[in-house]
Amino acid sequence: MSQTGIPSFNEANSAEMVAQRLSKAKAGPLPRFLATVVDHLHQIVKETRPTASDWRQAIAFLTEIGHASDDKRQEWVLLSDLLGVTALVEDINSRRPSGATPNTGRGPFYRADAPRLPLGTNISLDGVGAPLTVSGRVIDLDGMPIPGSTVETWQANAQGFYENQQPDLQPEFNLRGVFITDRDGRFHYRTVKPTGYGVPDDGPVGQMLGRLNYPLSRPAHLHFLIRADNFETLTTQVFERGDPRLGEDALFGVKPELVGDFKRVGDGWSLDFSFVMAMARKGNLAA
Ligand SMILES: [Fe+2]
Repeated sequence: MSQTGIPSFNEANSAEMVAQRLSKAKAGPLPRFLATVVDHLHQIVKETRPTASDWRQAIAFLTEIGHASDDKRQEWVLLSDLLGVTALVEDINSRRPSGATPNTGRGPFYRADAPRLPLGTNISLDGVGAPLTVSGRVIDLDGMPIPGSTVETWQANAQGFYENQQPDLQPEFNLRGVFITDRDGRFHYRTVKPTGYGVPDDGPVGQMLGRLNYPLSRPAHLHFLIRADNFETLTTQVFERGDPRLGEDALFGVKPELVGDFKRVGDGWSLDFSFVMAMARKGNLAA
């Protein structure tokens, strides 16, 4: 407190001064959240001690991210993804019982309108790439099959691009499909082997992290979204064992339980992978 009785702002009390103002705000989670953000932000400034010019540069970078984001492109999401924040939020919110297949992010290339197809269909509509047969089961924590579950899959092609990234080059719905498990909880379909891909590196986030040699690519993977009555919906990815980028997934999606064995079979490949579903928690059916 100064001699005038007006509290004066300084390095020691900075976060406290802001917290006092926020404490007068209407009750609710937002002022509490803001107080936590301010506390950590002030801590960062005290620890890293940027000059005014450094701080202007940081703000210019955040401004650039905003300018580079619109309905089609989201650099803020990319920043959250690459700094592990998206994966952390996912991990906090979708913890599964031990033995259940872990959840990972859905990613930006999902389409909700993929066609429902008979088991055994080839989802590679252009036939470009090494043939891959995918089979597996959807089971519960006791290993019992879940017949009639919906297995939705989508993946990149052999060059690492999704159909909706290349609307002029790939047929619509290429490498996407929705299958229903049979009475033994089994599904199978044909496709081509996916390739890993880089995240966008032509915006401010990719350019800044690229200059630091930060990992900006993803190992080869297949996406799955699995729904079954009375079970929690599972959104996950299956990665290829042996992919050199497995330990450096740009989006932190790789978990040991999600690594599958792609086996050589004749001229092509096969993958067999089972998904273990967790029962829906009360009030959270098939969320
Ligand atoms: Fe992906």
